[in-house]
Amino acid sequence: MNPSLYAQRRARVAAQLSPGGIAIVPTAPERQRNRDSDYLFRHDSYFYYLSGFSEPNAWLVITADGRSTLFCQPKDPEREIWDGLRLGPGAAPEALGVDAAYPIGQLDSELPRLLENQATVWFPFATHAGLESRIDGWLGKVRARVRFGALCPAEQRDLCAVLDEMRLFKDAEEQAIMRRAAQISAQGHVRAMRRCVAMLRAGEDLREYHLDAELLHEFRQHGSQYPAYGSIVAAGANACVLHYRADQAPIRDGELVLIDAGCELDGYASDITRSFPANGRFSGPQRALYELVLASQDAAVAETRPGARFTAPHEAAVKVLAQGLLDLGLLDGKKVGSVDDVIANRSYFPFYMHRTGHWLGMDVHDCGSYVEPGEQGQVSERRDPISGETIKDRPSRILRPGMVLTVEPGLYVRPAPGVPEAFHHIGIRIEDDAIVTDTGCELITRGVPVEPDEIEALMRG
Ligand code: GLY
Ligand code: MN
Ligand code: MN
Repeated sequence: MNPSLYAQRRARVAAQLSPGGIAIVPTAPERQRNRDSDYLFRHDSYFYYLSGFSEPNAWLVITADGRSTLFCQPKDPEREIWDGLRLGPGAAPEALGVDAAYPIGQLDSELPRLLENQATVWFPFATHAGLESRIDGWLGKVRARVRFGALCPAEQRDLCAVLDEMRLFKDAEEQAIMRRAAQISAQGHVRAMRRCVAMLRAGEDLREYHLDAELLHEFRQHGSQYPAYGSIVAAGANACVLHYRADQAPIRDGELVLIDAGCELDGYASDITRSFPANGRFSGPQRALYELVLASQDAAVAETRPGARFTAPHEAAVKVLAQGLLDLGLLDGKKVGSVDDVIANRSYFPFYMHRTGHWLGMDVHDCGSYVEPGEQGQVSERRDPISGETIKDRPSRILRPGMVLTVEPGLYVRPAPGVPEAFHHIGIRIEDDAIVTDTGCELITRGVPVEPDEIEALMRG
């Protein structure tokens, strides 16, 4: 992305720091996997949002006067032979548009100087282990100088509150990257569906990891750096395990496969789930449940529009699912009552136990308040019908153009008394990514079909 975009974001942060405020943002730490091998480094999202800089060992400091200072790895010809080129503090101001840059080794000496005479220190609370004590150490050095007339910041504030609200609204450049990430992910799903049916037809020993490999191939083939989260490829009953990971279970003729996978592209996530018949043809019970989940997703998508509450798509999906569970005999109306009773008592919960969506952005479960900021004080209490606990509700966030969220209803049927056997072990989720527009929403993940006939056609072809 254009470096001026990051500069604009830093300026927006600076404008929100109290007079005399200073904001400190480290990138993510490098993490050891074993001995001298590290996990693949992934920058901190807040840091990257403000810098566009993805090297490890870097910190960004922004002050209310609009100045930004980067601390980064110094040029080091020997280390660069092993680990790759470093930007270095010499080139950083021009490349990243920061006002000053220092080698990371000067962080402990420069920070007390930068903190001196500031009123408020802002940093992301509860996100980086050890950050507070690091800041305490610098503040201690400032305090040691108060008898020489220095002022020590007297207030600490959570920078997440500022950044979360900014990140919640995706600008045109971010939306463009997210569309591209979604398109790549959709192609990955298409590729996995085709490979699935082809291997089954050829009588090969098809495993979940074969489809995981297809997803990864497509992601990397189009420049995605890595999957946005651990890909779920779940055959048959494994689909009822919500956080199942692609493993080595065989995929058999007659089973459904649930794939929940999305790539990360240039720092932005995508998040798609499709459920499809391994052999390319839905059975009767599979199709009945699939069509129900799809109808609930349609209802949720219709509620994903500006002015609606974040909870509206969930409520719409639950209403359709609850009625469908009664119609299909998964819930017995004589026992659970009407659809309104099913919703009020959450009798659908054994089959649908998660929410219908979440914010999506740099993080797959992206930041951003789910409560409408101007209405935080309006607390109402209700009793949870299942746990009996008292829940405090605050008015849910009102959707606005530029917000991005997933729409992902599902049904997961475990064997239980009274549940028709034909539906046992079927797990279905349909997940698409939606950008809220001026009039409704744009589904950016429909490069992979959701209509059952279209899925069957794709797998035949
Ligand atoms: N893939 C994580 C989720 O759907 O929320
Ligand atoms: Mn999701
Ligand atoms: Mn997902």
